[in-house]
Amino acid sequence: MIKLNYKFADNAVINNGIEIEREFDNYKTKIAEIIQDLNQRKDKPEQGLQWMNLGYSEETVWYVKEYASLVKDRFENILVLGIGGSALGGIAVTEALLKPYWNFLTKEQRNGYPRIFFLDNIDPDSMSALFDNLDWEKTLVNVITKSGDTTEIMAQFMIVKDRLEKELGDNYRRNIVATTDKNVGVLRQIAEQEGYKTFVIPDDVVGRYSVFSAVGLLPLALVGIDIDEMVNGIKDMDLALKNTDIRNNVAAQNALIHYLYDRQKGRNITILMPYSSRLKYIPDWFTQLWAESLGKELDLSGNKVNFGLTPVKAAGATDQHSLIQLCNEGPDDKLITFIRVENFDKTLEIPHIFEYTGVGYLGGKSINNLLNAEAEATKVTLNDHDKPTLTITMPEITPYYIGQLLYMFEVQTAITGALYNINPFNQPGIEQAKDYTYALMGRAGYEGSAEALKTTFDKISKTVIS
Ligand code: PA5
Repeated sequence: MIKLNYKFADNAVINNGIEIEREFDNYKTKIAEIIQDLNQRKDKPEQGLQWMNLGYSEETVWYVKEYASLVKDRFENILVLGIGGSALGGIAVTEALLKPYWNFLTKEQRNGYPRIFFLDNIDPDSMSALFDNLDWEKTLVNVITKSGDTTEIMAQFMIVKDRLEKELGDNYRRNIVATTDKNVGVLRQIAEQEGYKTFVIPDDVVGRYSVFSAVGLLPLALVGIDIDEMVNGIKDMDLALKNTDIRNNVAAQNALIHYLYDRQKGRNITILMPYSSRLKYIPDWFTQLWAESLGKELDLSGNKVNFGLTPVKAAGATDQHSLIQLCNEGPDDKLITFIRVENFDKTLEIPHIFEYTGVGYLGGKSINNLLNAEAEATKVTLNDHDKPTLTITMPEITPYYIGQLLYMFEVQTAITGALYNINPFNQPGIEQAKDYTYALMGRAGYEGSAEALKTTFDKISKTVIS
């Protein structure tokens, strides 16, 4: 199993830390209640907790694998259209589990599997460049949106569908697979009218908790990632996290430590820093999960609380030359979590080619030694500055452990939300900007938002700043 080490966040090791073991005792009952409550509600509708059952959805895994094997030899490229929760999980997991620089490898080096491109943004230059260079006949487009009408995704899709139709004529439908809600949304209507192959995003699974549904599993299976192993990792972690004893539950420990560092010590910035380039997009995925789930204006009783823990993405060793100066000497508002990997796939030796004092010591060591030394040195320096750190250790980067890691973060987020007494499964704060975008683009039904925008722009234009 992946492990959590919280020693370097304990008051026994740093000044002004929290007394972790004592707090585990203080919160023992509360945490047990939260874990029990999540597990009791996870099968009920409208609780936002269906993501806790995704590891057990054998049917989805079977259909995804069947479709992936059917299309394997037909396509050289997978183009995923999505944004936020529809894309971040796929990006993070493919980057971690595919051979590095996958899209540059030959077909043989990719074991016959296609290249994969995630279009998780709208940008006229980069979109045009990608579209002009794809061989459309050999490209399978997976359009993913839970709501079925997210502006960015549907705009991407309209361009891509038009292009496919122009290039392939009537056969273009075979190059599209849609992942969306089973009933709701424009994409569902289009898919049914047009006859696309579809996969369903289950009810009560919002985007940021959807990586283990067809949203993530389909792109992963299409490029040959062993999703059965990933599901085994999720299930084993789920079993471990059902344990109501905080001393045996890493997600609960991590949640409580973050919560208390915010409440007691004002450390409300969460930095996630993997020491592995293959894990570098895990913090992007985590950022959305943590920010959209925990940043809330109202608590569950309707009180205005404006809670939130601000996530910051980092990469070791790169950000030792960027963020770490601030972490060591700046304000006491951060809690840093390192992700460490025990065994890398490769060992890369540094050759003995120079005898100069400044570099000679590196010869004969490995990049593996160096990365570990850098991580240790950073942790101890932070400790010297009385800055708390946590370390998550993965034995190796495999589908099994990636399944464990991501699922642990999801449960950790749900428990943290419960500690703050907020709803971690909605995102009311982003709906208003979506409505304003619809209004600016002239969508019918958003005249009220257009009026509100006009009032604001008028007010601002009349404001004189002296
Ligand atoms: O977590 C969420 O629910 C959101 O961030 C969504 O993933 C994002 O807004 C995309 O939404 P949709 O999948 O409905 O297109």
